[in-house]
Amino acid sequence: MKEQKGIVEIRAGSIDYFGVGAIEKISDILKTYKGQGIKRAAVVTGRSSYRISGAWQRIEEALNEEGFEFGHFDGISPNPTVDQIDEAVRELSPLDAELVVGIGGGSVLDASKVIAVLLKNRGLNARDLYVKGKRPYSALPVVAVNLTHGTGSEIDRYAVATVPELKDKSGLALDCMYPEYAIDDPSLMLTLPKEQLLYTSLDALNHLVEAATTTLSSAYTEMLAREGIKEIAKWLPLAVKEPENLNARYWLLYASLLGGMAIDSGVVHITHPLEHTLSAIKPELPHGLGLTVLLPSVLRAIYPAKKDLLQDILMPITGKFSSAKELALKVENWIFSLGVTVKLRDIGFSEETVEEALQYLMASQEGGGSLYLAPVKIDRELVKRIYTESLEPIG
Ligand SMILES: [Fe+2]
Repeated sequence: MKEQKGIVEIRAGSIDYFGVGAIEKISDILKTYKGQGIKRAAVVTGRSSYRISGAWQRIEEALNEEGFEFGHFDGISPNPTVDQIDEAVRELSPLDAELVVGIGGGSVLDASKVIAVLLKNRGLNARDLYVKGKRPYSALPVVAVNLTHGTGSEIDRYAVATVPELKDKSGLALDCMYPEYAIDDPSLMLTLPKEQLLYTSLDALNHLVEAATTTLSSAYTEMLAREGIKEIAKWLPLAVKEPENLNARYWLLYASLLGGMAIDSGVVHITHPLEHTLSAIKPELPHGLGLTVLLPSVLRAIYPAKKDLLQDILMPITGKFSSAKELALKVENWIFSLGVTVKLRDIGFSEETVEEALQYLMASQEGGGSLYLAPVKIDRELVKRIYTESLEPIG
């Protein structure tokens, strides 16, 4: 008989418009806010993808049509810092916005959610949230226009930011940060460069694998992982060959959405905190690439506790496997076959920087952290083994 588990948190999160052409829904969304008397919007973006994707043309038109006054902060970079968030709040404050519209991938959407909290709770800054542990209960409403098929940030309550002086990139989880509306339109993702296509999809894969195997996992997160991983295995190789294949993008975006729902309920465990420390040390490291480099070794580590489940959810990628090493090798070979052939040493890490990462990571997890949601016992030795093993290919 299948065992019951504890209380599972399942939230549908945001109202998400999903599908080709969903960007057109921005007019209806703005009309709804206008009907509530809201007429000033703070727009948050990175430097260029909001334009290159084609999203901005439609959103700017809709803001003007509905008579919104708006300000625009376009300085959010990948791996955003608390200082960038504070700068955005300073620049946007005079507008006295009643709504935040974030247009971008996970970094922009995460930053938009924190900006919405800080614009609502004047007097607080980003370090109050990320360093001092303040937890406000309110935020301005957020419309999240998603431009990558990776993070699921458009529908979840998480926001990751880096505190540079602590080399700490950590996630904040606040119920008030769920975007009220999200737009997931795969036609806005056709201009994603090939590396981003890969790294964002592999980020989604990691969300699905981790959420299904934490100590908070449930039948719900396992179901999401089964479905999402099946779609990634089917469509990612095709999207790499045919970046303009809209059908492939649609299903990768669907998998990414499922990944967002999965981590919103089941959280993450080893791969994410280990990667966050790497990209806090080297901010130029793309999140999805760092995760992907670590994944084979993490799977090898959790295999003893989750062998049957891993066989079930990873079957479309690996086929049958009968040992932890075979599983790690099969996943590594699949990743290599997609064109991601680097390991930690190739991207500038060594035994010394691994030791540095280990120090920062263990300090950041003191007093609790997602690392301890892993299905196996976590200690310094295990974390060191995963980092060290990931310096070179396992095979
Ligand atoms: Fe992620």
